[in-house]
Amino acid sequence: MSATAETRAGSTGTRPTPWVRPARTAVRWAVRHGLPAVYLSRSARRGDLVGRLLRDRALREQPYDVYEQLRARGPLSPSSLGLVTTSHAVAQEILRSDRFGVGWDRSGAPKAIRWALEFGDDPASSGVAEPPSMLVVDPPDHTRFRRLVSRAFTPRATAAFEPAIQRTADRLLDSLERREGTVDLVEAYAAQLPVLVIADLLGVPTDRREDFLRWGAAAAATLDPGLPLRRYLAADRALRAMHRFLDEHFARLRRDPGEDLVSRLVSLPAEEALTDRELHATVLLLLGAGFETTVNLLGNAVVLLDAHRDQWEALRADPGGWDTAVEEVLRLDSPVQLTGRTAREEVQLGGRTVRAGTRVTLLLGAANRDPEVFPDPARFDVTRVNAREHLAFSGGIHYCVGAGLARLEGAVGLRALSERFPALRVAGAPERRDLQTLRGFERLPVTLR
Ligand code: HEM
Repeated sequence: MSATAETRAGSTGTRPTPWVRPARTAVRWAVRHGLPAVYLSRSARRGDLVGRLLRDRALREQPYDVYEQLRARGPLSPSSLGLVTTSHAVAQEILRSDRFGVGWDRSGAPKAIRWALEFGDDPASSGVAEPPSMLVVDPPDHTRFRRLVSRAFTPRATAAFEPAIQRTADRLLDSLERREGTVDLVEAYAAQLPVLVIADLLGVPTDRREDFLRWGAAAAATLDPGLPLRRYLAADRALRAMHRFLDEHFARLRRDPGEDLVSRLVSLPAEEALTDRELHATVLLLLGAGFETTVNLLGNAVVLLDAHRDQWEALRADPGGWDTAVEEVLRLDSPVQLTGRTAREEVQLGGRTVRAGTRVTLLLGAANRDPEVFPDPARFDVTRVNAREHLAFSGGIHYCVGAGLARLEGAVGLRALSERFPALRVAGAPERRDLQTLRGFERLPVTLR
């Protein structure tokens, strides 16, 4: 293990005792997943709708009826996870308010939980939902991280990527030309395009893309509470492999920097420099967020357009409509279904008093079907005029850094696919990914001609 990796593993400089790592992994799983699983399952058995959404795979696959039952209870209702909202207005207000944050104050937790969280902390297998990932830290740290990465995602920098996205899509479609019979479109196209684009942006070798896809698929589950031990261990192994890869990658770019974002991040002047742990968290998030979400946008779009063939044909006739079509897919079948915030102080909201420290679950996928904002919200309409008002990229200070890039990958990737294979059809039942926070397909069998 390198000196840096050793430090990240929390060593004091001597070799860690052999039992520490497995014990830490077990405690980590128990406090982050085992206990929440017991609690959520008990809530689900008692009929709590959020508990059922998170524990019952069938409901997860088809959550939209449950969202409507929750909506009928009002804009903000109690649940096993604190409060929950399906309202676009309330979700938007929370996301934009500095009276809510992403951080969680552990000081009120029982002593044993605090100990377990501390003992279980392991930088060598940290995921994107753990500090110092910018997704889960509040200002001022959030502002510091965000400023460093957002330079690479300005509208102009994003637009400059279009030719590269088009070339990558064309190359992937060329290899699809040689395939006969039924093809898994996720494996052959929807997963490949985003990973190749983000690899380019981060200067990581594209020949490692199969590794990234494997690691990303296992690690994406850590966004969900209550993972079974076996899946958690697979995610833990994947995260360790990703952090080891990043150690090598950073060392390579320090020796031989390129023009990419990561080369800039590893060679920042001392006053801006990130610690090793911050650097890992930032690049891991960009890498993971860069492909684990956009794959779902592409897959969800193909399934919706297959079910609404007239709209696929209309887009073929008028390719200028793809931008709005992408917004409508993001709205109707959002790749990120939920997020959460904690009240930092007492707030009056949605007709309730929300006490400081209360956790609120924001069902983005439900807010995007709020009839107050989107008339006839369950209808798929690629010409919907206000489709872009969705919250699929969240809002406020954590608004998705890569939103512009994802939109571009969606529009370019789908248009290129429809032009090359106009007769493409879903052939057989697509299989959903077994995830709660992310929503997309694991397998999407199609015929191309
Ligand atoms: C369809 C594709 C995508 C969707 C639906 C999506 C969605 C989201 C959402 C909902 C959040 C905020 C979560 C919250 O507020 O708690 C977020 C944050 C983020 N996304 Fe995306 N994303 C997508 C693609 C991308 C891409 C391509 C990148 C990178 C290249 C990216 C990088 C990030 C980063 C770095 C954050 C953290 C921002 C912050 O905390 O300030 N995302 N994304």
